[in-house]
Amino acid sequence: MEFNVPTSYGSSPKGCPLNTPMSAPGVMARKGGEKLAMVTAYDYPTALLAAKSGMDIILVGDSLGMVVLGHDNTLSVTMDIMVHHCLAASKGAGNSLLVADLPFGSYQESTAQAVRNAARCLSQGHAQAVKLEGAAQVDAVRQMVSSGIPVQGHVGLTPQHVAAMGGFKVQGKTAQAAQRLLEDALRLQDAGCFSIVIEGVPSPVGAMITKELDIPTIGIGAGPHCDGQVLVMHDLLGLFDRFTPKFVKRYAELGSLAVEALQAYRDGVRTGQFPGPEHQFAMPEGEKEKL
Ligand code: KIV
Repeated sequence: MEFNVPTSYGSSPKGCPLNTPMSAPGVMARKGGEKLAMVTAYDYPTALLAAKSGMDIILVGDSLGMVVLGHDNTLSVTMDIMVHHCLAASKGAGNSLLVADLPFGSYQESTAQAVRNAARCLSQGHAQAVKLEGAAQVDAVRQMVSSGIPVQGHVGLTPQHVAAMGGFKVQGKTAQAAQRLLEDALRLQDAGCFSIVIEGVPSPVGAMITKELDIPTIGIGAGPHCDGQVLVMHDLLGLFDRFTPKFVKRYAELGSLAVEALQAYRDGVRTGQFPGPEHQFAMPEGEKEKL
């Protein structure tokens, strides 16, 4: 499917032309320029909404395990699930850069496993880049990048480490912990990442890492000084109610709107008001009488 959606980077001081498909180098060129807007999407309709709204980056996040599949955390998302959702999202992603999250267990075993699964996200999921959590796999990142796979890093609160962190907890609260996060981010940059997501850290830590890196940072619960922001679409649209992290701004309450619409449909069915004449097919003149 082809369509040109107006992108939000038309007026970028770095001069990215209107309606140009976003790319990993295009993201890097935005360091210190117009802020990058990134959102998750998990299938064709949600990616289409994101693309039509002019998102720079669409992430098929493993958060789909929670907000789409209803699990308590992201750990049960598999490569097959990721590829399935990514391919669907790719049909609607338009000019936005489509990034696939490498799921838990798909890149920790070896560099070969990581590169194979990252390549699968591109060849079968039609993603244009992958994201992985933490800095333990920098060798794999280096190998992916030299194989032509753009990689986005992710430091701070990394949900795939929920067991080790003892829950979804803010990271980098001490100067020493913040310094370790900066070192992780620098190692990822050195390995070739084109950008880094920073999640769940105090705002001064988000600012400090952003200042020290040459590549853009994209924050989620990391304060306003990052080079961009990312949110989970179901959180910002009010489609996920189980809990709302402090860093989420709910821009709409589509969940309640949907329930109202569904209730109206249910009532229409029960009272016989639906389907109305405008939703019915007529028979050619004279045929009805022969029934
Ligand atoms: O899986 C996800 O949605 C993410 C974002 C929160 C960055 O990793």
